[in-house]
Amino acid sequence: MTDHNLWLADDWLELQRVCAGCQEHLTQEILNMKYEIERNRHHTVLRNISGRLKTLDSIQNKLVRYGFEVSPQSACENLHDIVGIRIICSYLKDIEDVVEALNNLPKFEVTEIKDYIANPKPSGYRSLHVIGITTIEGIGIQCEIQLRTTAMDSWAALEHQLRYKKDLPDSTFVNQELLECATLLEQSDIKMQAIHDYIDILNGWTRNDHDDDHCEHQKWVSIHIPELKDPKQ
Ligand code: GTP
Ligand code: MG
Repeated sequence: MTDHNLWLADDWLELQRVCAGCQEHLTQEILNMKYEIERNRHHTVLRNISGRLKTLDSIQNKLVRYGFEVSPQSACENLHDIVGIRIICSYLKDIEDVVEALNNLPKFEVTEIKDYIANPKPSGYRSLHVIGITTIEGIGIQCEIQLRTTAMDSWAALEHQLRYKKDLPDSTFVNQELLECATLLEQSDIKMQAIHDYIDILNGWTRNDHDDDHCEHQKWVSIHIPELKDPKQ
C-alpha cells in the first residue's frame, strides 16, 4: 500500500470519504463499460449495478474477528470488501465478457478472482468475485465486484433472507433443499444461454453485431432500492 495511507492515521471518517469516492469512480467506470459493451450487442449485458460501503462498525468488527490491527491503514491493507459492487448479468457468457472488460478498466488493478461459478460453495452459492485495487488520491482501496446472473442473484437474495444471521439450528433438510434450488437454477442458466445462442443463430447475429433497438437499456433505467439492514458483505 502507498505511504499516503499514513495520513489516514486514526481518521476513520477520512477513510469513509476516500472509499465513497472510490465507489463513485468505479461505478462510473463500470457504467461507461456497460455502454461500450452493449453498443456491440443485441441484448442487455449488465442488467443491474448496485453498491454498498461497509459501515465503520462492520469494518472494525471484521478487523477484530480476523486478528488484524484496528486502524484505517490496516483496513485498507487487509479488507478486500470495504467497497462492494454487484453486477447482475443476463447470461453466463456475459459474465466472461464483463471479467475481461474489468481486467482492462482504467485505474482498477485486478488482484484476485474467486470463481464460485466453476466451484460453487457447499451452500450452493454461485457468483464470480473480482477483487481489485482502485487508487484514489494516492490511496489504494480494495474493492470486491460480485458478478452474477439473474438466477444466481435470486438464489443468493432468498438464501440470505432465509438463513443469514438467523441463528437457525443446522438443518440437513433446509441445506439440501437450498442446494437443490441452486442446481435447478444452474440448469436454467445453461438452458437460457443455449436458447440465447440459438436465437442469435436464427437471426444470423454474431456476438459483436450492433443493434440499438434490441438493447433494453435504452428503454429501462434501473432504480436500486437499498436494504435497510446491513447486508452480508
Ligand atoms: P466475508 O468475510 O463474508 O467477506 O467472506 P470472505 O472474505 O471469505 O469472502 P467470500 O468470497 O466467502 O464471500 C464474500 C461475499 O459473497 C459475502 O459477503 C456475500 O455477499 C457473498 N456470499 C458468500 N457466500 C455466500 C452464501 O453462501 N450465500 C449468500 N447469499 N451469499 C454469499
Ligand atoms: Mg465480505
